[in-house]
Amino acid sequence: MQALRVERLSDDLSGVTLADVTAPVRASGEVLVKVRAASLNFPDLLMTRGEYQFKPEAPFTSGLEFAGEVLEADHESGFAPGDRVMGGNKTGAFAELASVPADKLSPVPHGMDFPAAAAMGAAYSTAFTGLVELGRMQEGDWVLVHGASGGVGLAACDLARALGARVIATTGSPEKRERIAALARPEAVILSEGRFREAVADLTGGRLADIVFDPVGGDVFDESTRCVAFGGKLMVVGFTSGRIADISTNIPLIKGFSIVGLRAGEYARRFPERGAAINQAIRRLAEAGAITPAIDRLLPLTQWREGFEAMARRDLVGKVVFQPG
Ligand SMILES: NC(=O)c1ccc[n+]([C@@H]2O[C@H](COP(=O)([O-])OP(=O)(O)OC[C@H]3O[C@@H](n4cnc5c(N)ncnc54)[C@H](OP(=O)(O)O)[C@@H]3O)[C@@H](O)[C@H]2O)c1
Repeated sequence: MQALRVERLSDDLSGVTLADVTAPVRASGEVLVKVRAASLNFPDLLMTRGEYQFKPEAPFTSGLEFAGEVLEADHESGFAPGDRVMGGNKTGAFAELASVPADKLSPVPHGMDFPAAAAMGAAYSTAFTGLVELGRMQEGDWVLVHGASGGVGLAACDLARALGARVIATTGSPEKRERIAALARPEAVILSEGRFREAVADLTGGRLADIVFDPVGGDVFDESTRCVAFGGKLMVVGFTSGRIADISTNIPLIKGFSIVGLRAGEYARRFPERGAAINQAIRRLAEAGAITPAIDRLLPLTQWREGFEAMARRDLVGKVVFQPG
């Protein structure tokens, strides 16, 4: 079968290649899935460089998450051939077949196609775990979402709006503002360059943000410490800017806010019942038509390079989804 292999770590994708490899053999407890769609996440790009916190040894098959049809499963797994499932196991999604433990899979929401399901998974569970589970977001809260054109950022905007929060989206790319506004329908889209606190203060009538959701870090994080309301939360989601910010601990004390670290995948592994409840809540919202994952481009897996390069160039509004075969 065809699979996208990271043969060796590289900064420029030169170690990545689409190759014919032996199909996975399902082990007991695993489910064998015919992958119909698989979405690209920032960690996939980082893993080609060895820059992600999880560092699989090369060679490995790339791809955090997929959606597809069950081919084989143990009877006790609760899955049967033909079931439509979504999930993933950190690597192995960018291939025609994937075999993963049954607890890494959940049913595709009714009425949702495979590309949308592949695009929804990790982005929405990250957004939900951050905003709802840890952030205790309430209706009417002001939520400031950085990197709003990204998979996780757009999901956070979409979810927060669906749950009745007031969203201010930020982007570092002025040309993306209109597309973010059309897809995420926030109260406003502002630029995250330089000093954006005044814009946040104006939009919120001086209140500032109850939750800041920050996948970008660096200078954006630094300015965000000036944008959190008293009693609010500044959520550390990622570092797409490439810089992990430092903060003096007197700042959250004086301003009365909390810094919350988010690790959505690890949270679901440590608290499997909560992880399942989060997936179920997202599925209900999707089935009710309240949330819609945004896909920037749908590509055959043979065009994997276009997707990876667009992500590295920061040239996306929404997810890249690959279709193998
Ligand atoms: N904490 C968790 O549990 C968790 C789970 C999943 C993902 N993550 C993290 O969340 C982050 C976003 O992941 P994603 O899959 O949504 O990525 P993505 O689709 O590539 O989006 C990242 C966004 O970050 C912004 N950005 C700002 N500076 C950037 C730079 N120098 N290079 C590239 N992008 C830059 C861009 O938005 P603008 O152009 O609009 O500014 C970009 O669209 C990653 O750091 C990832 O590791 C965390």
